[in-house]
Amino acid sequence: MPDTINPQVIGFGQCCLDILGQTSSYPELDQKAELNSLLVQGGGPVGTALVTLSRLGVPVTMVGAVGDDEFGRQIREGLLNEGVDCTYLAQSSGASSQVAFISVDDDGHRNIFWHRGTASPVVPKSFQAILSNSIRILHLDGLHLEATIAAAEMARSLDVITVLDAGTLRPGMERLLPLIDHLVVSEKFARQTNDDLEVALKQLADYGAQAITITLGKSGSLSRSTDGQTFSQPAFKVDAIDTTGCGDVFHGGYIFGLLQGWPLPQTVRFASACAALKTRALGGRTAIPALQEVENYLRDQTNEST
Ligand SMILES: Nc1ncnc2c1ncn2[C@@H]1O[C@H](COP(=O)(O)OP(=O)(O)OP(=O)(O)O)[C@@H](O)[C@H]1O
Ligand SMILES: [Mg+2]
Repeated sequence: MPDTINPQVIGFGQCCLDILGQTSSYPELDQKAELNSLLVQGGGPVGTALVTLSRLGVPVTMVGAVGDDEFGRQIREGLLNEGVDCTYLAQSSGASSQVAFISVDDDGHRNIFWHRGTASPVVPKSFQAILSNSIRILHLDGLHLEATIAAAEMARSLDVITVLDAGTLRPGMERLLPLIDHLVVSEKFARQTNDDLEVALKQLADYGAQAITITLGKSGSLSRSTDGQTFSQPAFKVDAIDTTGCGDVFHGGYIFGLLQGWPLPQTVRFASACAALKTRALGGRTAIPALQEVENYLRDQTNEST
């Protein structure tokens, strides 16, 4: 990234290497299935959200860790090729990088087997200075809990907005949630809170976030704003090739909306469009749209419904 461009968003958390295979048949136990296509590409919740923002034209920085292995080299290269600043992406000596095996069926459904690797992100000594510079939003995924809490606390002390992508409710997360301004969680996370999603929204709101959204795959999303109003955003209808990374891309689109100062419904609609467009090709990142594509898509959708 050129020195003159200051990042607006910093991501702290996971970046991984996805090994994706498209298959028309899932094997029984002890059987085999041939893959129709194979793709190796960077992934991970924070990594792919930052790539989304970068494609939308927002300067971003990744803070995380990879191992000193071949996967780590490819993860870094994938981020750099997308214009993500990797100055604070540490390479941990002797450690392994996060990796995922992903199978995708003919309807775009994905199954993920992943290993977190042994490289763990740590908050860099200069983090406060980086946040003080030009950062407006800190995006987190919470897997490495203690470091994530430390990063969120620092953001809070500097009035940097915090966004959390929470996929699984893990022990200790109740210490992180009060430090979050925008909580955008998976259906799994919400149901671990309460199986009634309206109740889950209310319980999560009690931690103090300004806005909470539960993403529900092809059923869209359910949100609650500061004033306690709830609303649904249907998913856009697409013939999905691959839904890998839909949640990550949704977060990137959501953060873009926050940067514009849009109302929550507009932000969530934009995020949904980014995620829907993402499904057009194999890979979490392949079909992430540029800003103009999202704008055209949303305009077409509006015209169709009028
Ligand atoms: N089949 C689909 N068609 C259209 N939009 C989709 C589809 N699947 C997901 N989306 C969009 O992406 C958003 C996020 O998807 P989802 O809820 O599956 O994320 P997630 O559970 O966090 O999964 P992951 O992070 O692994 O992608 C949904 O709210 C929806 O807007
Ligand atoms: Mg997710």
